[in-house]
Amino acid sequence: MQAYLIEFGNFMLRWLHVIAAIAWIGESIYFVMLDNGLKTPKDENCRKKGVFGEMWAVHGGGFYHNQKYATSPEKLPDDLHWSFWKAYTTWLSGFALFIILYMVNPGFYLVNPNSNWEWAANLTGWQANILALAFLLLGWVVYNEMCKRISPNMERDGLLSIGVAVMMVVVAYLSTQMFSGRAAFLLTGAVMATAMSANVFFWIIPGQRRMVKAMKAGETPNPLDGKRGKQRSVHNTYFTLPVVLLMISNHYSFAYTHEYAWVLMTLFIFAGALIRQYFVLMHAGKIQPAYPVVGVALILVAFWIAMPSQATSSNAQLEGSGPDITEVTALVNQHCVACHSQSPTQPGFSAPPAGVVYDSIEQILLQKERTQQVVQSGYMPLGNMTNMTDEERAVIQAWSE
Ligand code: HEC
Repeated sequence: MQAYLIEFGNFMLRWLHVIAAIAWIGESIYFVMLDNGLKTPKDENCRKKGVFGEMWAVHGGGFYHNQKYATSPEKLPDDLHWSFWKAYTTWLSGFALFIILYMVNPGFYLVNPNSNWEWAANLTGWQANILALAFLLLGWVVYNEMCKRISPNMERDGLLSIGVAVMMVVVAYLSTQMFSGRAAFLLTGAVMATAMSANVFFWIIPGQRRMVKAMKAGETPNPLDGKRGKQRSVHNTYFTLPVVLLMISNHYSFAYTHEYAWVLMTLFIFAGALIRQYFVLMHAGKIQPAYPVVGVALILVAFWIAMPSQATSSNAQLEGSGPDITEVTALVNQHCVACHSQSPTQPGFSAPPAGVVYDSIEQILLQKERTQQVVQSGYMPLGNMTNMTDEERAVIQAWSE
């Protein structure tokens, strides 16, 4: 019953998380598009009132006319639309999901028993939980300090972007060493997503509140508040595509169990940022296909790096000496079926994980390639709970038709 409750809660939370994220990111992309697509108003009266850009749009059967003021309008309306709950809901639901999916069972889902770092391979569940929380917190602290120190008055934002890019390579590397592959991808995405929400919570919204307060008191708002809000929201826009990719990575074990998972992650992150850059420029009327071309090239490099090598199984096939299906079935029954069955006997599992079932020989045969891949990479059995040996892994690897 408890496993079922967690599973159901997970399902509903994921729904909330995805909806909140769509609403938040959608709005954020919309406003970046609006900001970059503004044209100087033709109407002189408009310009006199302080409007420096406008956009006409048609959508959903109606016409819309947006105007942006250079500093502030003469009088601020009382019913200003604010955007922050979408960001907070996304983070809170994401964090709750992380607790249910990873922190309830850290021994399986967070610890990386194959880590090159011995201390990381031997972490207890609680240590792994604390390390994951520290990782998220430190990610924000380092990013925030970099913004404050490198470009405090938004005068060195180019240099800052390079700093943030380097930081993400380090985050990708450290996460794959310290955590299991699936968690490493998720946590790297979560470092960016946490920075995005914290940007809204600690800088963008408080800055806007100060601006509104100043205007209501008849004072001129501090322009730094506006500029800083812009700086952080520009960072957020480049984070969006990589974050979405890392958040949906959880079923693509070929990527996160790879020896060079951190390189793959880095390539995907840069590809996402470059593709985003194309759209940001496009809305400002500049078409620069070099960005997505380089982005796609990075994805192709990732494809090439992650391509499985066929050497082992084809050798066995040539010699006709691969182990037969009875041997393989025995190993699968011993090491996998406790979890991967229509009715798992492993406590904590109410349904076959990832929908992978090994109850019959047909089912085992059907999933040969996938099985070999997860066994070779060491991802399965999860947390090597059943102590599968290297010799046993070699048998699965050598198994031919
Ligand atoms: C302790 C329980 C457990 C055991 C034992 C276990 N698995 Fe898994 N397996 C999981 C969980 C949980 C997932 C889902 C993880 C995910 O979504 O990536 C999974 C996912 C998979 C997947 C899908 C991965 C993908 O690419 O989406 C395959 C294939 C798989 N396991 C094969 C195996 C094989 C083969 C064995 C035995 C050698 C095994 N598992 C043993 C829990 C287990």
